[in-house]
Amino acid sequence: MSKFKELVFSGVQPTGNLHLGNYLGALKRFVEMQATHPCIYCVVDLHAMTTGHDPATLKSATREVSAAFLACGIDPAKNIVFNQSRVPEHAELAWALDCVARMGWLNRMTQFKEKAGKDRENASVGLFNYPVLMAADILVYRATHVPVGDDQKQHLELARDVAQKFNNDFAESIAENGHGDAFFPLPEPLIQGPATRVMSLRDGTKKMSKSDPSEYSLIAIMDDADTVAQKIRKAKTDAAPLPSEIAGLSNRPEADNLVGIFAGLNDQTKDQVLAEQGGAQFSAFKSALTELIVAKLAPIRAEMIRLAKAPDHVDAVLAQGGERAREIAQPVWASVKDILGLVR
Ligand code: TYM
Repeated sequence: MSKFKELVFSGVQPTGNLHLGNYLGALKRFVEMQATHPCIYCVVDLHAMTTGHDPATLKSATREVSAAFLACGIDPAKNIVFNQSRVPEHAELAWALDCVARMGWLNRMTQFKEKAGKDRENASVGLFNYPVLMAADILVYRATHVPVGDDQKQHLELARDVAQKFNNDFAESIAENGHGDAFFPLPEPLIQGPATRVMSLRDGTKKMSKSDPSEYSLIAIMDDADTVAQKIRKAKTDAAPLPSEIAGLSNRPEADNLVGIFAGLNDQTKDQVLAEQGGAQFSAFKSALTELIVAKLAPIRAEMIRLAKAPDHVDAVLAQGGERAREIAQPVWASVKDILGLVR
């Protein structure tokens, strides 16, 4: 039994339109975790500054992603919903952890390489450092579980490495300050379910991503029924009908992706979907999928539209969430200062 109290933390960047990948890989899971754990959900506005941003867009996207949290069913009375920049301890702990993390570790991060592209010399230092701030987000609450999509796996491994190195490097001081043999838990990634990596509707080998230039590659949470129908109709498929078992999906990335989306939305496994839909032509399966997507997204979309007209309500949730988050983060940061020998 770990000495750390189980606590869930996760974050979403306020950049662009949220899509079905964000919903199935993260938001839907966030909602589910509330049944079993205390949860902290954060709109990571500081992370959204790493690739260059427009201030007005950042502000509106922060409110929009916060509204999406609420619209999906996160309960801000029971759990904590806030935006990262309200709690300065994230950035303060990130600095301390910058001095723990190694250049070599960050040099291996594939997301930095993807985002920096060919012109790496011109990437911001913030983009390079991004995973350390992410580690700080989690560790400043000493959170134990982190629901994320598959693309965040490497960042979570880095967070564990940083926590472990901090515990090792300062073991003596940690014990002297009364924290026993470890100050930080090693946060566990929760990457579960049939849709941890939702792929582009245009190319089943590419991740569904906000930065894809083709709008037909993704379903946005805010897409209306007609748009969903059109995008699914145009989604790439192959000529064969659906198989009745999962083995039949190998080498059929587009079919695999659509079955995964169906399963994720309908709380089924891919096997269960295929047991029911095996043998169907894509035309029929696509109609069923469109209906399902619309049924699941319509209420979320309607609530987001309502909340967009109530920015004061959203801001009040973030302000209150920020205060509650700080109550947890402040003493953790104070203990880190003591452990590190920073006079306070
Ligand atoms: P972000 O904002 O890119 O994505 C938010 C969440 O959505 C998941 N996701 C996907 N899941 C399945 N299929 C996809 N195609 C897909 N695309 C995105 C992501 O895995 C993520 O869970 N670095 C994080 C934000 C962050 C964070 C944290 C997360 C900052 N600090 C601390 C957890 C803990 C990010 O950029 O996610």
